[in-house]
Amino acid sequence: MHPDLIKLENKFNRSILTKVDDPCLQGVELWIKRDDLLHPIISGNKWRKLKYILNHALSLNCKRIISMGGAYSNHLHALAFIGHELGLETVGLIRGERQSTPTLTDLQRAGMQLNFVSREKYRTLRQYKSWQALPGLTPTDYWLPEGGAVALALTGVAELVAEIDQAYDIICLPCGTGTTLAGVIQAVPETIEVWGFAALKGAGFLTRDIEQLLPAPRDNWRLSQAYHFGGFARGKPELTAFIKQFRGANAIPLEPVYTGKMLYGLYDLIEQGRFKPGQRIIAIHTGGLQGNRGFD
Ligand SMILES: Cc1ncc(COP(=O)(O)O)c(C=O)c1O
Repeated sequence: MHPDLIKLENKFNRSILTKVDDPCLQGVELWIKRDDLLHPIISGNKWRKLKYILNHALSLNCKRIISMGGAYSNHLHALAFIGHELGLETVGLIRGERQSTPTLTDLQRAGMQLNFVSREKYRTLRQYKSWQALPGLTPTDYWLPEGGAVALALTGVAELVAEIDQAYDIICLPCGTGTTLAGVIQAVPETIEVWGFAALKGAGFLTRDIEQLLPAPRDNWRLSQAYHFGGFARGKPELTAFIKQFRGANAIPLEPVYTGKMLYGLYDLIEQGRFKPGQRIIAIHTGGLQGNRGFD
């Protein structure tokens, strides 16, 4: 591991496991793995996914990381900050017309160069899947696909699974690109049931993306597509109310794009009797709380 990454990680907080005590859980034991606590900015699955990717970039002596994301992207937010910390240049290709959001302001403050690209062009960028694939890169550039969706991300995600120091039956997490889910599927024993909760509507294509990221086929996982609340970054009053109630009862902040939808879905499945009393579930808090600023 590059010494600068070790130095950065040494400043992180611990990601603890917190038990949720709630009569609604009907005897199912729910624990939250608080990856959101790791770091105020590089929180949740961001560090897990970026760690080995950045190590690769640094080992190649790359000086500039170019990636893509929306105007509230947690991925770009973490990348810009890490780039600043490591003395790497960063470029963000931002979906859609020029606009101003708190996230974009943070990116610029961290020194990220922002290039706004049309939605159509943005979609075409998704075809470039390896670090050298983006046309026009210089020899010291490193291309990082949307959401850090590359196989190297799985290695860092496996570290979060390795930190879980108690027995459990089920592990669940929210999904955007499905990369974090793939990392978890690969890292857990096959006796563990893995649930991903898609944050977007029409996420059927993710199954193939996840299968492609996995080095070997696994059948101990499933992707719930039932809790997208109308689509990516869309919400409904019941989701907002759930997040508020959950925070009030457990002092754990959620956001409506990923973690709120996952926990809403999980509570709903528990209410439907999908899990048995006594089963222990670990839900991963993948962070992303900066994104809450888009819903104020
Ligand atoms: C807070 C949060 N949770 C979950 C995800 C989904 O992760 P993945 O794209 O690896 O499925 C993201 C996006 O990266 C995120 O920002």
